[in-house]
Amino acid sequence: MFRPKRRLMLAAGAALFLASAGVNAQAPAVAPGLANVVILATGGTIAGTGASSTTTVGYTAATVGVQSLIKAVPELAKVANVTGEQVFQIASENMSNEHWLTLAKRVNVLLAQPNVDGIVITHGTDTLEETAYFLDLVVKSRKPVVLVGAMRPSTALSADGPINLYNSVLLAASPEAVGKGVLVAMNDQIQAAREVTKTNTSTLDSFRTPELGMLGYIQGSKPFFYRQSTRKHTVDTEFDISSVISLPMVEIVYGYANVGPVAVDAFVAAGAKGIIHAGVGDGSLAAKVVPALKAARQKGAIVVRASRVGQGILARNGEANDDELDFVAADTLNPQKARILLMLALTKTSSTREIQRMFYTY
Ligand code: DGL
Repeated sequence: MFRPKRRLMLAAGAALFLASAGVNAQAPAVAPGLANVVILATGGTIAGTGASSTTTVGYTAATVGVQSLIKAVPELAKVANVTGEQVFQIASENMSNEHWLTLAKRVNVLLAQPNVDGIVITHGTDTLEETAYFLDLVVKSRKPVVLVGAMRPSTALSADGPINLYNSVLLAASPEAVGKGVLVAMNDQIQAAREVTKTNTSTLDSFRTPELGMLGYIQGSKPFFYRQSTRKHTVDTEFDISSVISLPMVEIVYGYANVGPVAVDAFVAAGAKGIIHAGVGDGSLAAKVVPALKAARQKGAIVVRASRVGQGILARNGEANDDELDFVAADTLNPQKARILLMLALTKTSSTREIQRMFYTY
């Protein structure tokens, strides 16, 4: 398949890859023709263990180390030269801005290495969509970055972690995934970081992209893409976190019948630089909340109108006069992803005009 000289160069690159990733000399033989993929493990159910094989809820997340995850899927060696790093070992409900910055900086360092072709990040499913979107906005490479989790712990009957991990590694090793932005691979499906969301507390098909649709499938150890995101991502974004040591405080208030101003006032008093209002319907603002949001804006906080509904365009000047209130409309981002974009926007500007542009760009 490769000319002798090319084979020699690839073998050297692969050996360098294993050495640079801190893999010991006894590492499995590398296949020169395969891509070099680094698995960054952060915890979650994919690394979880239960009391018995039928324990699919009430298990302990984040107990199995990355080398054990790799050893449990020897088929990985057929699709890529794989090394692993344990970046964190947490249940993802505990993911923080600081974790995100650490992870993103490690991803950018690794992808800048010529002997790293792609990255897989194993992650708890609870906040997986958020980490994926954050990375979609700050990774400065066209190389594939694929997030993967599991809905069942590693000890469960028909655990989905091993096949999800295998699919994610082969996707990260595939030329088709280059330049597509950060991807999520679960349940044999390929999803875009911007739109994917967890839709079920426990079933295997939990990760979906309702209405706008998934990007493709993984079938027979091959990825098949049928669409790609139209929004800017990775190398095409204006965000650079290389020198960022903390992200601005942005919080989310939830809209519902009989909601009052207490949450908004409390977040502003605590120093929030941005408020995401997850409103009912098309981001409607209850009359009792508007004065608190206006006061927040007057104190310098950026207010973004989002919707708790989950799908559809949040129309600017629809259910509220955003021009007059100087608020920002979230477009199609759900509240948790609107929070991520606003945090990064605030590292660049406090202009609502500029921030609205960003919500129509990313
Ligand atoms: N504690 C949840 C988390 O780490 C478990 C859910 C999962 O990973 O599937 O996100």
